[in-house]
Amino acid sequence: MQGGVFIGDWLSAAKSYENSQGKEEIMISLHVNGKVYQVDVSKDTPLLWVLRDTLNLKGTKYSCGIGECGSCTVHIDGKAVRSCTISVGEVQRKKITTIEGLPENHPVKKAWIKEQVVQCGYCQPGVIMQVAALLSQKPALNADQIITKMDDVICRCGTYPRIKRGIKTAIQMTKKEVKKS
Ligand code: FES
Ligand code: FES
Repeated sequence: MQGGVFIGDWLSAAKSYENSQGKEEIMISLHVNGKVYQVDVSKDTPLLWVLRDTLNLKGTKYSCGIGECGSCTVHIDGKAVRSCTISVGEVQRKKITTIEGLPENHPVKKAWIKEQVVQCGYCQPGVIMQVAALLSQKPALNADQIITKMDDVICRCGTYPRIKRGIKTAIQMTKKEVKKS
């Protein structure tokens, strides 16, 4: 890992330190997938760059880089956000979840396997994160509402029909889990 230091629990807040020239710099503190990291990057660095290049979390993908495709979607405090359009300075002390932090038994991941949604797979981490955020909204959205909100996601392989099936299956799986609990 380059430039990012895992420092343990979330209560350890951002620290300042003296760099080799004696100039004070502020370390950015990021809470990602339940861990806290301190990274020595500029506050205006896009979150996507830091996730991939500093923290080595390569599941989040870079595609358009201008907020148009959804490949870089992560959760910030539970909401779907395009990580190419938000800076690390804006997400300090917020809870960031990437595709690596979404549990393997999450209904969307299970539905994606069941419906064999993926083709090349490049866009899918972002698609899954966006669906997962929509699925957790309260009051719950129905399949048509979630599908409508996925209109701004781009899949170059054209897996849209399978994404729609995956959404319906994920909703059914979620309902079954709620009944069991
Ligand atoms: S890479 Fe961020 S929206 Fe396309
Ligand atoms: S599965 Fe290939 S870009 Fe979406």
